Amino acid sequence: MDSNRKHVTLQLMVAVGTAVIGSLQFGYNTGVINAPQTIIESFYNETWHDRYSEHIPPNSLTTLWAISVSIFSVGGIFGSFSVGLFVNRLGRRNSMLVANILAFVAAALMGFSKLAASWEMLIIGRLIVGLYSGLSTGFVPMYVGEIAPTSLRGALGTLHQLGIVIGILMAQIFGIESIMGNATMWPFLLGFTFIPALIQCALLPFCPESPRFLLINQNEENKAKTVLKKLRGTEDVGEDIQEMKEESRQMMREKKVTIMELFRSPLYRQPLLVAVMLQLSQQFSGINAVFYYSTSIFKKAGVSQPVYATIGAGVVNTVFTIVSLFVVERAGRRSLHLIGLMGMAVSAVCMTIAMALTEQVPSLSYVSIVAIFVFVAFFEIGPGPIPWFIVAELFSQGPRPSAFAVAGFSNWTANFIVGMCFQYVEQLTGPYVFIIFTVLLLIFFVFTYFKVPETKGRTFDEISAGFRENTGSGAEKYGPHEHNMLGADSQL
Ligand SMILES: *[C@@H]1O[C@H](CO)[C@@H](O)[C@H](O)[C@H]1NC(C)=O
Repeated sequence: MDSNRKHVTLQLMVAVGTAVIGSLQFGYNTGVINAPQTIIESFYNETWHDRYSEHIPPNSLTTLWAISVSIFSVGGIFGSFSVGLFVNRLGRRNSMLVANILAFVAAALMGFSKLAASWEMLIIGRLIVGLYSGLSTGFVPMYVGEIAPTSLRGALGTLHQLGIVIGILMAQIFGIESIMGNATMWPFLLGFTFIPALIQCALLPFCPESPRFLLINQNEENKAKTVLKKLRGTEDVGEDIQEMKEESRQMMREKKVTIMELFRSPLYRQPLLVAVMLQLSQQFSGINAVFYYSTSIFKKAGVSQPVYATIGAGVVNTVFTIVSLFVVERAGRRSLHLIGLMGMAVSAVCMTIAMALTEQVPSLSYVSIVAIFVFVAFFEIGPGPIPWFIVAELFSQGPRPSAFAVAGFSNWTANFIVGMCFQYVEQLTGPYVFIIFTVLLLIFFVFTYFKVPETKGRTFDEISAGFRENTGSGAEKYGPHEHNMLGADSQL
């Protein structure tokens, strides 16, 4: 391999770094409502009192908060479905630029909600920032995948995931009482999203448009070459151009499969079921119960500094995301997913026992902390990264965009259900709430064991042959197999 092609130029670093701010924003807004829950709830309570001259009924407060948390995912559903509307018209870079309008509007709505004594503004702000996040989860992997040299595509693609977990961690740290997690500063905590948006807007004009978009969508070969020369730091970009042309020829050869066709054709029934179930296993594992509500969970488990335990979960999450980046490429996807699900199920049981007995044995609160840390660690080993890998590996170019759209929809919808329902279920079950996740995790474990094939290093033909025989596993065959885990054209 030509050494030039491994060269990381400043131009490439700036472009990737700028794009990944979008991932950071997604993570930040996932984690930001965790620590200040009680503080913002008091604001709702006071506002309600000022409007209606009575304290807010506990049920209304639960509902308002559940909506505030979970409407983010409703935005995510629409955002992830709209990616295709932007990227092919405006281009990748300008789509990211324009989407920042949403981030600014959302930051303003959330940041001024206290001043305006309006929880409606906060909720609409969460919806809009969810929309932005849904778009980002499409834009960022696509842009990064298209500007990166082939040899670095995988490595740079992982920065998207890293950006997300670091965003979550940042939000948790900013949520400490002495920083912004208090009654006066929380509007800044939510409005902070303004700052990364500003930085991204300032830097994007210095980032190039995706050469793939210029060449394939716009047929501007010279512009694509100019961009590539800057990105690669070399005059010799013929090989990159050839590669993109070849890729596009391949895509032409395979007919695009619409979502309807995907559902109708018996050929795709099994892979689609697997893809959707894996996405559901990611969200119904209960991970976002932790990232949305861990501070309140820790408080109920008798932890004296729940915000710090939440930050601990964020640190574990970041560390194990990095660990998994090294493991995922080497180990089998199916085994990792099974290990992750089982690990999460076991820690959910420990968590439940600790929470149920914490009144009698207060020191068990430490067990709850460790159990949640282990829960998060196993998530990042299996159900975190694996479902997206497998969707990319189950579907060839033709059906892949539609498959990704269905997967994304399932993922965000399940995310919404957990965010919306968790507190109600917790009210019903008390400390036993994680038993529900345990049951779900075990169901997903059994499903994965019997139905999910190993996809690593196998061609699409081998995988679909496996589905026809209806065997879950089989001897692993290694073959040359070009896949694009980023799902570069993954949207409608
Ligand atoms: C609302 O605030 C009042 C006064 O501070 C308090 O007594 C009441 O418990 C709060 N309501 C809820 C549902 O938290």
